[in-house]
Amino acid sequence: MEHWSVVRDDDGLAWLTFDRAGATTNTLSQAVLAEFNGALDALQADPPKGLVIRSGKANGFIAGADVDEFGDVHDAQAARALVQRGWDTFERLAAVAYPTLALIRGFCLGGGLELALACRYRVVVDDPATRLGLPEVMLGIVPGWGGIKRLPRLIGAPAALDLLLTGKTIDARKARRLGLADECVPARIMDNTARGVLLARPAPRVLRFPLSLTLLPLARRLIAAKARKAVARRARREHYPAPYAILDLWERYDGNALAPPAGDPAAIDGLLASPTAANLIRVFHLQERLKALGKASAATVARVHVVGGGTMGGDIAAWCALRGMTVTLQDQDAQRLAPAMKRAAKLFTERLKDPRRIRDALDRLIPDVQGDGVARADVIIEAIYENVDAKRALFNDVEKRAKTDALLATNTSSIPLEEIAGALRDPARLIGLHFFNPVARMMLVEVVAGRDSDPALVARGAAFVRGIDKLPLPVKSAPGFLVNRVLAPYLMTAMRCVDEGVAPEAVDAAAVAFGMPMGPIELADTVGLDICLAVGRMLGHEDEPPRRLAERVAAGQLGKKSGQGFYAWVNGRPQKQAAQSVPAGLGQRLVDPLVAEAKAALAEGIVDDADLVDAGAIFGAGFAPFRGGPLQYARAAGGSPQRATNATVV
Ligand code: NAI
Repeated sequence: MEHWSVVRDDDGLAWLTFDRAGATTNTLSQAVLAEFNGALDALQADPPKGLVIRSGKANGFIAGADVDEFGDVHDAQAARALVQRGWDTFERLAAVAYPTLALIRGFCLGGGLELALACRYRVVVDDPATRLGLPEVMLGIVPGWGGIKRLPRLIGAPAALDLLLTGKTIDARKARRLGLADECVPARIMDNTARGVLLARPAPRVLRFPLSLTLLPLARRLIAAKARKAVARRARREHYPAPYAILDLWERYDGNALAPPAGDPAAIDGLLASPTAANLIRVFHLQERLKALGKASAATVARVHVVGGGTMGGDIAAWCALRGMTVTLQDQDAQRLAPAMKRAAKLFTERLKDPRRIRDALDRLIPDVQGDGVARADVIIEAIYENVDAKRALFNDVEKRAKTDALLATNTSSIPLEEIAGALRDPARLIGLHFFNPVARMMLVEVVAGRDSDPALVARGAAFVRGIDKLPLPVKSAPGFLVNRVLAPYLMTAMRCVDEGVAPEAVDAAAVAFGMPMGPIELADTVGLDICLAVGRMLGHEDEPPRRLAERVAAGQLGKKSGQGFYAWVNGRPQKQAAQSVPAGLGQRLVDPLVAEAKAALAEGIVDDADLVDAGAIFGAGFAPFRGGPLQYARAAGGSPQRATNATVV
């Protein structure tokens, strides 16, 4: 066999190891499943006392189906064949007479978890890298290889639907708590635990009362109806059909994606052939591409120094500490660092949960008013006021004290990199690392190459961004880089509509109906109206800024952060009225300038190609993911909106 190998031990157990040939990650391709079936044939001929299925890769168990093969699905027959081969294989695995066990370390996702669910037992390794989940819904498809059938039976409908409908992953301990795993053990005893379970053959888990009631037909109907309402609050069926299909399949077909007749909205052929699935799979590939851009350099970063402990610097420092780096955080005095340290403690508590890990992260984040950390840092990030003289003075000093191979980066939003770099003896050393607010939630970081930046350092910047688990987007130094540039005409148009008398709620509703996760007026309030005005000015929209925007900024009504912007904000939420009437064509009017600006940015070479424009717009500006990005949307729509000029935008 090419991808699987079997050894038998003295106890009569068979150990089946999956190590996909020619790949760094285990995924379940057609060939891999065929070979797995071959392995089951061989075992059937001479049944073992028990079977352990494990991974031969250090990085994880199984990442899921081979997404590359989804590209070959062009018709209903191919879609059904893809589902059938996994469904049949795992039905067969679930039916073998000998006990089976999945030994899970690292990621166990999608088809990988469906394989594990078809085993009689699951042992998970208690390691931060162990993550289990069914992320199919995020690709616009459904877990068609038995996940919708088996997960609710194992852990009850509420917890199972939560995983199925959000695509989120859980760690090893939670898997054990939910009953998804039978044992959760340290790596050093994982093999022995697997052996012990198979030899002892405890009764397989069954769902206990009252969770067992959640599987009864009437309960299914009620739970599915409630879940459908919750899904509808987040996503419309015409935009995101998959979560609705998952509920239909569970309620009416016991999770068998092959059961619905053609034409049923839950039928797999329709889903797999939908533009939503194609676009969400495209988004997945875009994300993989950005990740790969961070692999161009192998430099490791242990120490980070951040100058400026305000909104951005404080949160960047906390994020780096969360990701395991030792971080020194500098500001003008200790008092100014206090809010950043408080926010960091909150972030660590939310994300790490375990008190020891929280304490370790806090220990890694060191207030450093004197800037002693500069001399030892591998990466130095400046996030002080947006003032060119202050930034020049700072870098002039930092360059003298930093290690000669330290990476020097600025988080500036609007100052040309070249102007700051001019203060360095070696201007090639400076790059931009443009983070987005809020740092903990925004995955994208623009990695900015100035005219003089050394390309090797830009590559190191991208690797650093990847190292802190964000997505690097290499961009050329130009006003607004990519993300603010495409966002600005969209936000300005939205505010212009409000000036014309359209209610902010109606503007937001039009954008949400198009598929944006948040309306542009709410987004402007969230970003800060002062920042919107400044970005608009920088990008040449200043001749006549939207009237109400200028008025609110002059009155100190800056949006969420001041409690009042276009909306009043209470407990972090905008107080909205129901949108009365949404003018026809409003969504299109909002989106056209964004699409046009995306085309202009591509033509000017701000990023290397159209896919990177789409990636930036989706991950940085929140462009409707199911539309695949602004340029993909324009291609699909067949139209060619003209670039917005100042006259039409402002
Ligand atoms: P902020 O005003 O919240 O924080 C700036 C901090 O820098 C203050 O705490 C200040 O005391 C400190 N500081 C000023 N001069 C200093 C010096 N010489 N040495 C040490 N500390 C000094 O500003 P914010 O919003 O965090 O912005 C910082 C940078 O990030 C700016 O360049 C801005 O353009 C950029 N940026 C801001 C975004 C945002 O949404 N706020 C988004 C992306 C970039």
